[in-house]
Amino acid sequence: MADESAGPETLARLLARRIVMDGPMSVGAFMAEALGHPRFGYYMRRDPFGSGGDFTTAPEISQMFGELVGLWCIDSWARLGGPGPFHLVELGPGRGTLMADALRAAAVLPLFRDNAIVHLVETSPSLRERQRQTLHPVLGDAVYWHDRLEDVPDGPTVLIANEFFDALPIRQVQKTNYGWFERLVDVEPDSTGDDPRFRFVLEAFGSSGNRLVPDVLREAPDGSVVEVSPASQAVARLIGARLAAAPGAALVIDYGYAHGPAAGDTLQAMRRHAYAPVLESPGEADLTAHVDFAAIAAAAREGGAQSFGVVEQGEWLTRLGIRQRASALAAKASPAQAQDIRGALDRLIDPSQMGRLFKLAAFATPGAFADSPPAGF
Ligand SMILES: C[S@@+](CC[C@H](N)C(=O)[O-])C[C@H]1O[C@@H](n2cnc3c(N)ncnc32)[C@H](O)[C@@H]1O
Repeated sequence: MADESAGPETLARLLARRIVMDGPMSVGAFMAEALGHPRFGYYMRRDPFGSGGDFTTAPEISQMFGELVGLWCIDSWARLGGPGPFHLVELGPGRGTLMADALRAAAVLPLFRDNAIVHLVETSPSLRERQRQTLHPVLGDAVYWHDRLEDVPDGPTVLIANEFFDALPIRQVQKTNYGWFERLVDVEPDSTGDDPRFRFVLEAFGSSGNRLVPDVLREAPDGSVVEVSPASQAVARLIGARLAAAPGAALVIDYGYAHGPAAGDTLQAMRRHAYAPVLESPGEADLTAHVDFAAIAAAAREGGAQSFGVVEQGEWLTRLGIRQRASALAAKASPAQAQDIRGALDRLIDPSQMGRLFKLAAFATPGAFADSPPAGF
């Protein structure tokens, strides 16, 4: 780690210097810096979506996804009593495509559109600009951006979050024959300050590991790795508290497991649509982990909301009528476009593609959906 001066600053160099000074960092701290460092974080400087980027998300695959989410929002709002002005909130809106498609579908109920105050919770300046461009034709300047959900004003809320929770930091703990130890990120001792390489190590004393591991997994076999996401739980608790304080509903869509907590290392890096080593180039690859739906539902209930689900994405989209929507679009399309629509439909609902891995949970003001659960649940 001797020479720090050669070459331009990179996130790898910056993190390596910090580790040399302060000691190994948690996987969560590494992930938070890799994705959200104000200068070098993955999301801060680029548009990672689509064929030229690193990955594709459901709203980028087809307009049908955002349209059906929009109809879910309308239905939920109506069943909340159609509150006058209300906050339509999206967490982690990417390119703004989901919100644009949802609002277009919402044109069927002008009262919903007229009363919706759109708030986007987004930390990336470059994606905020991209969202502004996408939404300007639909909303003009009537969009509010926030760094954190805490900053969205109180009041009736309909909230959506697609592939937001999988980007929130996780911490990992590992079972050894001396108990649970937190996994940390250290610098390889033989790497240089110019070109640092990182490795996983275990904390020295097991104090964090023993505290973080969920009780039901405490007796897992030696070598097991368990992930917890205090950051995700904090956001879910906040959503729950919002929905307890004023009428509202929230829809969380993500990839993950329904019946957690589960043992397993799911941290992954994606670069140019392929998996990459997770510690290889912080800030240059997307880092995500499977969402523990049971944990975020528990946190939302702790916050005061009622929870619904989990439902698999293929099932939910089918219940909301995606097949009929695809047929209607295909009937007006050229043969090539109709084939694209059918391809997109398969990608979204087929169990071997996104249909099973991606799941949905809904949260709502207790009692607001007493007659029947939110649409699709
Ligand atoms: C995987 S993208 C999902 C984008 C979009 N929802 C979609 O489906 O295409 C994650 C989004 O969350 C944003 N994001 C990540 N971490 C965040 C945080 N801690 N606070 C707010 N936004 C965050 C990213 O900048 C990006 O817009």
